[in-house]
Amino acid sequence: MIEIKEDSVIVSTGFKNQYDLPFLWLRDNCQCDKCRILETQEKQFLLHTVPVDISPKHVEVKDENLLVIWPDDHESLIPLSKIKQSGVARYPERKKWIGNFVPEKYDWSKFLDDSDVSTDALRTFISFGAIILTNAPKESNSLELLSKRLGPIHETLFERIHNVSITGHVYNVAHTSKELPPHNDFASYKSQPSIQALHMLENECEGGNSIIVDGLEVIEDLRLENPGFFNTLSEFNVPFRQFDENNETYAEAPLIKCSSDGSIESFRFSNQLMQMIDPTRNGLKEFYKAYHDVSARVHQDKYRSTFRLDGGEVLIVASFRVLHAREEFIPNGKRHLQDAYFVYDNALNNSLL
Ligand SMILES: [Fe+2]
Ligand SMILES: [Zn+2]
Repeated sequence: MIEIKEDSVIVSTGFKNQYDLPFLWLRDNCQCDKCRILETQEKQFLLHTVPVDISPKHVEVKDENLLVIWPDDHESLIPLSKIKQSGVARYPERKKWIGNFVPEKYDWSKFLDDSDVSTDALRTFISFGAIILTNAPKESNSLELLSKRLGPIHETLFERIHNVSITGHVYNVAHTSKELPPHNDFASYKSQPSIQALHMLENECEGGNSIIVDGLEVIEDLRLENPGFFNTLSEFNVPFRQFDENNETYAEAPLIKCSSDGSIESFRFSNQLMQMIDPTRNGLKEFYKAYHDVSARVHQDKYRSTFRLDGGEVLIVASFRVLHAREEFIPNGKRHLQDAYFVYDNALNNSLL
């Protein structure tokens, strides 16, 4: 069924679908060999080379294709299956945590060597924002090997692979035995690392359980229960800084960032790196009330998952979404953690392989 309107074609297909296809969309999506580069499927047709009010001479459905004939007799054949396919979600759906969430565990070697396992693991990772790899080597810099599945390491101005122990280089609270409240790393970067892998090499200390918090759920609940606070935290820029004797990182950004469709893109949260906000700024009081509310939520038990990360385990989190934390530990044994960052887009795309 086809109906030609003023600037679009309405096509009703057999499968309960009705499409309202603008003329410009139809012309832009011509699949012919003149409009596409045959070898790469890239588009070479340039939209501005036809008039903005272009209108087809003739439209029909022919053998499950939409055939469009244009005033210059150019013929476009667009498979209906391709139109339908364009509306199918490509990536696994993001899922919020329920109850006592514990990240799914995968064997380190299988994750690296078996592509079915890695695809399954990456899809779980995309859905929930956290997985654990078990039976990992207890050797330094093993995180380098994860590049095979997660893409290249995302370096910052600090070390490529950071050592977290109380005997090394102390430049933040993680390098002490103190409790570490929920945060994501490098809020002091405008574009924060989007994946963090935490590799426990040795954990002989008492205490020090790992904690992760689903920031996505925290923020979704905030939006439902207090949209005013949500808006404030999406708009108010907050300064963050991390530094040592050789490096300086500083960024100002809102705690919540949304995509154009309104979905939450990232949650930036680091009590330890937050800097003094200029008190002459407009909206400071409103910000602090909203910040108090979201901080209380971040510390609520219902959003957190607590578990012990043993030597030979790697926790991988989608850090734009999942915050990590650690209980205080007693320094009565060896405890050595290494961490490194990766790029979420690379893991996302590898989950499609
Ligand atoms: Fe951290
Ligand atoms: Zn064409």
